[in-house]
Amino acid sequence: MIANIIIKPFSLNQKIPYHLLLLADPSKEIIDTYLNKSEIYVAILNKEVIGIYVLYETQFDKVEIKNIAIAEDYQGKGIGKLMLQHATKTAKEKGYKSIIIGTANSSIAQLYLYQKQGFDITEIKKDFFLKNYPEPLIENGIQVKHMVMLKMEL
Ligand code: COA
Repeated sequence: MIANIIIKPFSLNQKIPYHLLLLADPSKEIIDTYLNKSEIYVAILNKEVIGIYVLYETQFDKVEIKNIAIAEDYQGKGIGKLMLQHATKTAKEKGYKSIIIGTANSSIAQLYLYQKQGFDITEIKKDFFLKNYPEPLIENGIQVKHMVMLKMEL
């Protein structure tokens, strides 16, 4: 299956797959603040968009993966890892010197995946989710409070 996946740039003229973006970021309002300033890539399988990631330039030589998500039915099959590797390769080809990604203190699988792929924790944005999201969020039975920032040199 993974051999049949095509990862390609996505143009904002197409219908935006918010259902995927919302898996990674529960606020459409926040998603809309970065989407049109970003480069978006999608994973396509049998003409269906099953994955997405969003690259956002934070400095001239630094880019952030603002959003990465795989459709629920396709999670746990190695596609997230594939997208992450595609994102770091794309960022490097575009000349960025580092790539960063943020995830929650409660996002155990994401912290595992990102560190295993070579990202290193650089910063904790204390109470980020308490300050920026109106509703209390719980994940893996843990309250979602802090943003953990991870970075990879390219
Ligand atoms: N707990 C622990 N490890 C897990 C896990 C879990 N719940 N789910 C996956 N993993 C591991 C896999 O075993 C694999 O490890 P390996 O490389 O040692 O085999 C690794 O994580 C990558 O798994 P993969 O199948 O590539 O992940 P995925 O396709 O499910 O994509 C996400 C990962 C996070 C992008 C995807 O699950 C997703 O879209 N989640 C919802 C949105 C989200 O949280 N986005 C990130 C916001 S920061």
